[in-house]
Amino acid sequence: MSEIMDIDMPDPTPCPPPKPANAMAALMAGAKAKGKEKAADTEGGAPMVMSEEGLRILDDKEGLPWVEKYRPNTLDDVVSHKDITTTIEKFIDAGRLPHLLLYGPPGTGKTSTVLALARRLYGPPYKKHILELNASDDRGIDVVRDQIKSFAMTKVLFSKGFKLVILDEADMMTQAAQAALRRVIEQHTKNVRFCILCNYVNKITPAIQSRCTRFRFSPLPEKEVARKVDQVVEREKCNLTADGKAALLKLSRGDMRRALNVLQACHAAYDTIDENAIYTCTGTPHPKDIERVVESMMSDEFGTSFSLITALKLEKGLALQDMITGAYELLQTLELPNQSRIYLLDHLGSCEHRLSLGGSEKIQLTALLGAFKVAVELSQKRIK
Ligand SMILES: Nc1ncnc2c1ncn2[C@@H]1O[C@H](COP(=O)(O)OP(=O)(O)O)[C@@H](O)[C@H]1O
Ligand SMILES: [Mg+2]
Repeated sequence: MSEIMDIDMPDPTPCPPPKPANAMAALMAGAKAKGKEKAADTEGGAPMVMSEEGLRILDDKEGLPWVEKYRPNTLDDVVSHKDITTTIEKFIDAGRLPHLLLYGPPGTGKTSTVLALARRLYGPPYKKHILELNASDDRGIDVVRDQIKSFAMTKVLFSKGFKLVILDEADMMTQAAQAALRRVIEQHTKNVRFCILCNYVNKITPAIQSRCTRFRFSPLPEKEVARKVDQVVEREKCNLTADGKAALLKLSRGDMRRALNVLQACHAAYDTIDENAIYTCTGTPHPKDIERVVESMMSDEFGTSFSLITALKLEKGLALQDMITGAYELLQTLELPNQSRIYLLDHLGSCEHRLSLGGSEKIQLTALLGAFKVAVELSQKRIK
């Protein structure tokens, strides 16, 4: 099988256009306008309706985490990736399912799609016909040689004619294991189909990529996440306010797993889930705090700004990394001279990188403050 198909869906989170005006006042106005835009965006779109069968399955799943409880049962329940699910259905109907490679960011429905596919092929006792291995299982070369091979070699005793091997989070497999897998795929195509799932497609060897039909799962559009959230809110009787919902959708960035997990955590901790609850529960800085921080870094004196931010970090338990992400988003809404913007973006990136390698928060904060000061100075210079 050497067919390659790339289905790239449009990215649902385009950059907002730069807002006119200058300096901090405009910055704040821009940030507020952006917040409103987002809130308006999430309105509309009726909650999804559940089938009787769906409701019965939900009762069986009482007590499970919501991400599992509300995992789609059929390919139709998988939201957003309609081109992908209909293509897969066509493959099944034609009886010509190729090996599949599904890739994309977490929480976008890769595992759910494959499990729904297995259920569609084999019905409820589908577990007997699949071998599912994920990152928590050992998937070194021995497993490929022994477990996968022996599963692949046993004959199938039902009409569909092939079994499924699901390799979840395959980008964690070693190169040696992938090389061994390539032979296994080739030898057993007759009675086994492989479904390879991963976040980073470039970690899968080209030899395996070229044996599979590839589908890219892009982050889910906010509207689709909102529809599912509405459905869960209604069923679990959550008290989610409009601003809480807007914050939840913004924070989940197209990751449905994150949306449902945060919703469940907030539901357990608070009676009313509003914007504050969402930000506090996830430990993410509130946009108002980010505005305060950026304003202070741009206009206060170095020492004052340093103590203000340190105090805020202590009081709210915020991580510098999240502040950098917040500051980055705020900068998108700001009109800044190019030389300052480029300088700042470069330094935000470096600080974030150093933090991820274990750099000290305190030193990185001073570096960041320094970068803001230089950026302000740069903005006052005229470039001829
Ligand atoms: N496209 C989708 N449609 C419906 N639910 C989804 C979708 N994507 C994710 N989810 C929800 O998020 C949870 C995690 O999804 P999963 O398929 O495991 O994501 P991935 O494998 O892409 O990381 C699922 O249990 C489901 O509740
Ligand atoms: Mg998965």
